[in-house]
Parts: sequence; structure tokens; C-alpha cells
Amino acid sequence: MNEEQRLAGQAPTTKEKDYSQYFQSVYTPPSLKNAKKRGREEISYHDDFSIDEQFRGMGQGRTFYIRTYGCQMNEHDTEVIAGILVGLGYEPTETVDNADIVLLNTCAIRENAENKVFGELGHLKPLKLERPDMLIGVCGCMSQEESVVNKILKTYDQVDMVFGTHNIHRLPEILREAYLSKEMVVEVWSKEGDIIENLPRVRKGNIKGWVNIMYGCDKFCTYCIVPYTRGKERSRRPEDIIQEVRQLAAAGYQEITLLGQNVNAYGKDFEDGDYRLGDLMDDLRKIDIPRIRFTTSHPRDFDDHLIEVLAKGGNLVDHIHLPVQSGSSEILKIMSRKYTREHYLELVSKIKRAIPNVTLTTDIIVGFPNETDEQFEETISLYKEVGFDMAFTYIYSPREGTPAAKMQDNVPMQVKKERLQKLNKVVNDFSAEAMKPYQGKVVNVLVEGESKRNKDVLSGYTEKSKLVNFRAPASVIGKIVQVRVVEAKTWSLDGEYIGVQEEEKVMS
Ligand code: 5AD
Ligand code: SF4
Repeated sequence: MNEEQRLAGQAPTTKEKDYSQYFQSVYTPPSLKNAKKRGREEISYHDDFSIDEQFRGMGQGRTFYIRTYGCQMNEHDTEVIAGILVGLGYEPTETVDNADIVLLNTCAIRENAENKVFGELGHLKPLKLERPDMLIGVCGCMSQEESVVNKILKTYDQVDMVFGTHNIHRLPEILREAYLSKEMVVEVWSKEGDIIENLPRVRKGNIKGWVNIMYGCDKFCTYCIVPYTRGKERSRRPEDIIQEVRQLAAAGYQEITLLGQNVNAYGKDFEDGDYRLGDLMDDLRKIDIPRIRFTTSHPRDFDDHLIEVLAKGGNLVDHIHLPVQSGSSEILKIMSRKYTREHYLELVSKIKRAIPNVTLTTDIIVGFPNETDEQFEETISLYKEVGFDMAFTYIYSPREGTPAAKMQDNVPMQVKKERLQKLNKVVNDFSAEAMKPYQGKVVNVLVEGESKRNKDVLSGYTEKSKLVNFRAPASVIGKIVQVRVVEAKTWSLDGEYIGVQEEEKVMS
């Protein structure tokens, strides 16, 4: 298949031997050299997505089920996929058992995320044998990896379609092909560059909304697969973002999370490069919506203007998730994070000076190739010095095609596990400490619904992302209410519902 046919939207025929040729024409395997060559001039914006008449009714009387793995970006992609499916006439269903389409929206960030997906595909096989008319699809980050697609082609013949993160808008064509073809339909473009504005969405709930502000990542941390699976950095135009947030506010949403793999790079790809995340936040804070947050930050591009704007407070929450990954400057260098321990600590001091009440959380990888005990201890000491409220902690997982995967690694798995355990103990202790001051205080909680553990209890989050459980009438779901904390636990707060009225000093 040549480039012209591809752009004309012809999905490939997908016998295995045809496929490898197809893949070569549209897919560039993870390669730092190739990926870094990607240009900026190719970004184009499209406002013209619509579902063609010929596809309408395709889903009449049929149902779909999407299982989402990984980050909020994937969760939001699922909302877009659901939007397209509903536009085609399909209806959502709660279980795989009666679904006519089952999609796995996958994550490639670590090996265990991928193994879960292969396991799930195994579970789906008997269902497919029972109901050969159902369609099973794999999308998301794993489908951007050549080795994964080859494995699916060889081993998982229950799969009907595989499509990539840049191909979501082509779902109607992909589905048509899957219904017509007896073979697996594979459509994965490695070439990105387009931003498609008016894709339909079925949002999960009407309380908290996700809004993409940019796509892709150009940071190329040496351990990370994301710059390859999500492509280069492309920012949405400010006016499109502002309009989307306004619409969500008008629809009654209470909280917006701005999404990007590296939101601090927002606007870098604009021709004049003058409008950055600080400017966007400054514009968004004027919109009448109670809470605005963003994820995820990179310390390198976290500039003074952004700090200045965040310090204005209002609906900009005083919780910043700022992944550090390691406390050792040597490891940070090999990770290609492009900052040192000292830079990170300096940034934290600056943020704390400007926003004294700020809550900081982070991501940490332990057991990076050849990490020494001393280097690991530097991570522990940095954690204590910053005093994070919480962290997501991971054992390093080699990702094929990334520079780190080629590094020799002398750290045994047992040692990595022990480091993770030790770090998690510190993380737990700090979380418990951070919760203690809440005891007896009143907090503002955005009520999301029934607690997952106890149906008689409602739960929600404070501005600082603390989980609060309390008893109250279901009518407060979707509202911001006041709750007095009666028990501060390590990871959550138990409280007594007060009501929506203003009273006493409120801790966020
Ligand atoms: N191994 C382990 N953790 C990883 N992360 C990203 N890539 C890897 C990897 N190869 C972690 C980082 C990142 C978070 C989303 O996932 O901490 O911030
Ligand atoms: Fe991956 Fe984040 Fe680094 Fe980008 S900035 S390469 S998404 S860890």
C-alpha cells in the first residue's frame, strides 16, 4: 500500500504477509533518531469530522463495551471512541458478555500493563467462539508497537481489528472493513500531526471533565515508550480549549482536568511560541467553574509565569503533580530528564514560596538500570526533603526500542522489589502525616457518587485530591459540599456531612 492509498483511507488487507509490508509503509518502529527528526511544520488542524451518511445505522440494535487501561489520556480517548460508536447507532453495555463490540483501549507504559491485555484477550476467546459475530478490537498505545501487533496477528486470532492512537477518527471505516473482512483489520499510523477538533464524545459522568490541551511528547526520557506511541508534541489552539471548557462549565461540570503527556510544553509548537500553559491557565481561571487542574507536568518546562498564575488561586487548585522519577542527578541524567536534583528542589522551593499551601505529589521509578543503593537513597532523601503527600511508584520496566532497554542492568529484581517496598513505606508514612492535620477540620468535597467499598457511603475529593467518605443523601452527588473530618486515615478521610453552606475555616 502506498502513502496515497493510505491517506485516502484504505485499510490494508491483513493477511500476515501483506501486513508486514503495510506496517513498514505506515509505521516507524521506536527509534530515537527517527522520532527526533519529526518536524513541526506538518501539524494541521481539522474541524470537519462528521460521520458519513453511509455509516449511520451501522450500529443499530448492536451494543459495545470498552475496557480502558492506563492513564487519563486513554480514559478520554475512550470517551471519544464511545462518542463515535454512539454516532454510528451502537449502544453502550455494562459487560462483555452481551456486547457486539468489545474494545480494549490499551496501555504500553510497563510490561505488566501489556500482560493484563494479553490475559484479557485470552479470556475473550471462548466468548468469540460462542458468538463469532461479535467484534473484538485492540486500540490505544500497545497497538502502536510493531512487536505487539505481530504477536496479536500470530497468536490471538480472536481479534478482529487493531487500530492506533492516531486512527480513532477512522473507526467507522475500520468497523466496516472488519464486518466485511474475514481477516484481522489493522490500521496503525505512526505518522501523526493532525489535530481533529470536533470529534464526538460520550463523557463518563457530568461532574468531572477531561480536556486535552496537547498530544504527544518530545521529551524522550530514555525509559519511556510514550513519545513513540503518542507521537510528537502538538498543542490544541487556545480558543478551542477555552470554548470546550466554557461548554463544560455551562453544562454544569464542576471540575476540569487539562490533559497532556507533558502539559508544560503547551504552546511550544505554536509558530510564535508566545502563548504557553501559564497564559492558558490565566485565561481559563476566568471561566466560572469551581476547579481546574492539569496533568502531567514536566519539571523542565515549569516556568515562572505558570507559578505566578497558579498563585492567583481561585479555581486553579493548589495541588501539583510533578513527576521527579529519581532523586539522583546521575540517574536523572541517564534518564535524560534534563534537570538535576538541585534544579528540582529549587523549583519546589519556588512553588512553595509562591503557593504556601501547595500539595505536591509525584511519580518515581526505582531500579533503573545500574541504580546503586546510594542513588536510591537519594530518592528517599529527596522525597523526605520535598515532603510529598503521595506518589505513584514503579519498578523500572524495559520497553522495546527505548534507549534504556539497551542498557545493561546489574540490579537484580529482588533488589528492585526491596527498594520499591522501602520507598512505599516512606510514601505511606508521609501520606498518613499529611492527613493528620485534617482531623476535626471542615473540607470542601466534590461528591462523585457512592463509595466503591460501601454503597451506603458517598465519596468525593477535596481540591488537593484527598478522598473523603461520608454519609449524605444521594441528592448531593455532583455538588461541592462541606464535610467535617472525623477520622484521618493513611489514604482517605472519613467525615460527617455538614451541608453546602459556608462555615468555619475550610481546608482544601
Ligand atoms: N518503567 C517504569 N515506569 C515507567 N514510567 C514511564 N515509563 C516507565 C517504565 N519504562 C512511569 C513514570 C511516569 C509514569 C506515568 O509512568 O514514572 O511518570
Ligand atoms: Fe514519557 Fe513523560 Fe518523559 Fe514524555 S516526559 S518521555 S511522557 S516520562
